[in-house]
Amino acid sequence: MRRKLVVGNWKMHGNRAQVTELLQELISSATQISQGVDVGVCPSFVHLGLVKDQLAGSKLILGAQDLNEQPESAVTGEVAGSMLFDLGVRYVIVGHSERREKLKESDDLIADKLVSAQVNGLTPILCIGESLEQRQGGVTEETVVGQLNVAVDKVGIRAFNDVIIAYEPVWAIGTGHTATPEQAQEVHRLLRDHLAELSAAVAEAVRIIYGGSVKADNAKELFRSADIDGGLVGAASLKAEEFISICKSAG
Ligand code: PGA
Repeated sequence: MRRKLVVGNWKMHGNRAQVTELLQELISSATQISQGVDVGVCPSFVHLGLVKDQLAGSKLILGAQDLNEQPESAVTGEVAGSMLFDLGVRYVIVGHSERREKLKESDDLIADKLVSAQVNGLTPILCIGESLEQRQGGVTEETVVGQLNVAVDKVGIRAFNDVIIAYEPVWAIGTGHTATPEQAQEVHRLLRDHLAELSAAVAEAVRIIYGGSVKADNAKELFRSADIDGGLVGAASLKAEEFISICKSAG
């Protein structure tokens, strides 16, 4: 039985006061969330230390939004996986579509980041998803499977025992157009079936979470689907009450 996982991706939002307020509300309400649900929050790099200091004893797990693919070295402005682990970070998002699009991150670079995360004891949350044009062009399956294959080829199927996959259709991110539970389930199922061709055990165990306009009023229906193991939540994770409600829907 796979544990459900809900992760808040705070993106490039908030100042110290806002982050503290949000976090305090989350911590004080976290007891309402089922024990069977894992919950993570991914603040920006500059707020990781602040958040870590306040998280002690709470069920919330600290995540980061990115890492550099290199080990600690002379790369100005970047953050190594070892630094994140040292700070208490346990999850790290790799391959978010905003980075693929705006920062031109390639599948190959993302696979290197996934390796670097695992080498440093972090669990990568690998984001994959098709654009609106790709969906309308009927190439959703080959797009997402193609993105997944680059990572699988790099690390091998066994390494996916400690990878979380986030299916995030690009057309649903930040747009308010959530995929229907049927649309999301269909892609989650085909991803799991694809992995099963390599290892039935890994396919059964790997958590595939959905992202793209998850909100309090659609989370329950999405999380009820057989192959949707939780959510990666952007905008709605910045509102404590709504995020807690989403987490409760997973339990
Ligand atoms: P959204 O973002 O919930 O605001 O659509 C999801 C994400 O980018 O992970």
